Amino acid sequence: MRTIVITGGTDGMGASLARHYLAAGERVVVIGRSRAKFDALLASVVPSARPRAGFIAADLSLVEDNRRAIDRLMRDHDRIDALILAASYIRQRRYVTSEGREASWSLFFLSKYLFVTELAESLRTADRPVIVNTAVPGARADAIDFDDLEMADGFTFRRSNAQQRRANEVLGILATERNPALGYLTWGPARLVRTGFAGEVGTGMKVATAILGPLLGQRAEDAVRPIIRLVDAPAPGRAAYRGAEALPLTSGAQDENDAARLAAAVRASL
Ligand SMILES: NC(=O)c1ccc[n+]([C@@H]2O[C@H](COP(=O)([O-])OP(=O)(O)OC[C@H]3O[C@@H](n4cnc5c(N)ncnc54)[C@H](OP(=O)(O)O)[C@@H]3O)[C@@H](O)[C@H]2O)c1
Repeated sequence: MRTIVITGGTDGMGASLARHYLAAGERVVVIGRSRAKFDALLASVVPSARPRAGFIAADLSLVEDNRRAIDRLMRDHDRIDALILAASYIRQRRYVTSEGREASWSLFFLSKYLFVTELAESLRTADRPVIVNTAVPGARADAIDFDDLEMADGFTFRRSNAQQRRANEVLGILATERNPALGYLTWGPARLVRTGFAGEVGTGMKVATAILGPLLGQRAEDAVRPIIRLVDAPAPGRAAYRGAEALPLTSGAQDENDAARLAAAVRASL
């Protein structure tokens, strides 16, 4: 039986994956803020699967909660076979958490940095370890503002989104350097997925998702099929996907340097 950890596993694509792996007989640990959503997830699977499902309540935009969740995972599980990073809360404006950190950078990058680096040993114990990071690949190689990672100046949704996506690609360099057997995938759906789109967004984005979602969006359980295939047969090293299609990794002249610089800046900020 594999142990699959899913951040953002209470809703949307994360919940579809959790349901799939529970039906397939795996052990699944779901991390999210809402116990009620986890209870609804449990109610949607057959009773015999429920003992294999675990829940850790955590607000992953808070570093303290990330540390607590990671400690609990390390205490309860000697081995993690697959780590799927799918927590999402879209904020179009800059927002500062109770810890004084910029919320989108905290949720979409610091949390993932902590999970990937601190769970490295638990993943090393697996035969074919894999991380699926649902950060859409393909952001520009120069999208990281190393001098102002939390964008105190000039925050826009577009800049913040591009920076975290690029940082999540670069995170794969750090992860696979330390564990060459690890498969590290940055993955985005091939097209819009009909999910809750949790977040605080303006009327334009709300209307666009409300109209386009039902018209063009795919169902979460269909969107995650490529992830399921990739997790079942992981290849070591970094890769990038949109849906089932492999994309070239964005590579810049400074990739290794950027990875080291990012790690140093993040460690200094934690
Ligand atoms: N949907 C799309 O079309 C689309 C397109 C491109 C990329 N993606 C990416 O795919 C991934 C999954 O997206 P989705 O649309 O399936 O998401 P979703 O339906 O909005 O679900 C988001 C999940 O994240 C959890 N979450 C939100 N804030 C959290 C926090 N502060 N701490 C812990 N958990 C938190 C939510 O659970 P709780 O409410 O329990 O906290 C929920 O389980 C994301 O990385 C997203 O960026 C999606």
